[in-house]
Amino acid sequence: PVVSALDLGGVKIAKDDVVRDDPTNNVPDTIYAKLGLQLHRRDQHPLGILKNAIFDYFDTIYANKFDKFDNLCPIVSVKANFDDVLVPPDHVSRSYNDTYYVDSQTVLRCHTSAHQAELLRKGHTHFLVTGDVYRRDSIDSTHYPVFHQMEGVRVFSPDEWETSGLDGTLYAASDLKKCLEGLARHLFGAVEMRWIDTYFPFTDPSFELEIYFQEKWLEVLGCGVTEQEILRRSGKTDNVAWAFGLGLERLAMVLFDIPDIRLFWSSDERFTSQFVKGQLGVKFKPFSKFPPCYKDMSFWINDSFTENNLCEIVRGVAGDLAEEVQLIDNFTNKKGMTSHCYRIAYRSMERSLTDEEINELQWNVRDQVEKKLNVVLR
Ligand code: PHE
Repeated sequence: PVVSALDLGGVKIAKDDVVRDDPTNNVPDTIYAKLGLQLHRRDQHPLGILKNAIFDYFDTIYANKFDKFDNLCPIVSVKANFDDVLVPPDHVSRSYNDTYYVDSQTVLRCHTSAHQAELLRKGHTHFLVTGDVYRRDSIDSTHYPVFHQMEGVRVFSPDEWETSGLDGTLYAASDLKKCLEGLARHLFGAVEMRWIDTYFPFTDPSFELEIYFQEKWLEVLGCGVTEQEILRRSGKTDNVAWAFGLGLERLAMVLFDIPDIRLFWSSDERFTSQFVKGQLGVKFKPFSKFPPCYKDMSFWINDSFTENNLCEIVRGVAGDLAEEVQLIDNFTNKKGMTSHCYRIAYRSMERSLTDEEINELQWNVRDQVEKKLNVVLR
């Protein structure tokens, strides 16, 4: 086999030998193929354009004080991804159903927060981390198992808040909100915003920022005041800090009018040629949309069935031709057996699909669902 070496943030990985025989490995080839593509580092790609626009904001407001990282290896330890940011041992995000494990101690990062602790330990006090993140998930126009996040962290020293008369946590929270409201205005112009209290294991208090855009409240990012324990472990006992994490696709879909998250991965010129370096918010003009084709399948589920596992099979067979997987019927019979009916929408954004092609995909999906999920087709 051709061994193509991948250089991920200075870490050399042979495409064929990341412990793929480990029984705990749940990373399919389709996901593996995304490693190293780094859409966020392409200046003419909507994700790169958005990243650069956010960098511009921080450079202007903070006089280039923020260190930027956009080439850190997405393969990280369980410790970095979860333990170091205080994700509890029983948190769902740690499950094999939600996260891609390379082996029992190594994951594809599910958030850029995976780099917080390490960068704090190294002494960074102002930083932005951009990167591809990986989550097992459902299939629809806004969910894709690989997407991109940007993390921001700012550490304060005591003299910064002591003169303000506020305590450190309040000071950091109010600075954080000011900073992110400014960012939202930089990206979206004069928009209505609101703050929602929420929970993250790594921040307290924690907030979500929502903006009112095109007649809807849109969640833009998660953030909060960094848990003191994280700072303590990195030798910063006397400091306070804030952190935020935002999803680039979600913002880019709105800013550029991109209707389907799969388009970010398209190399079709009719997509790629529409974006220009440095131009945020050029509206995407859809090229002719080909019709979707729907196929239904019903089966009796078992105790270990999950929708994420089903979606992984569908993506494995159909790749980006799978547009949506939707549960359309669900009932339990007198014997206590539960049946699910899923509707799969197949559509290419580039060409029209033939009946033959779709039937073949659907037969493969049915076959694999039966074999790999041990369910009984109806
Ligand atoms: N890591 C969080 C997520 O992926 C976002 C976040 C980052 C929230 C930093 C708070 C602070 O949803």
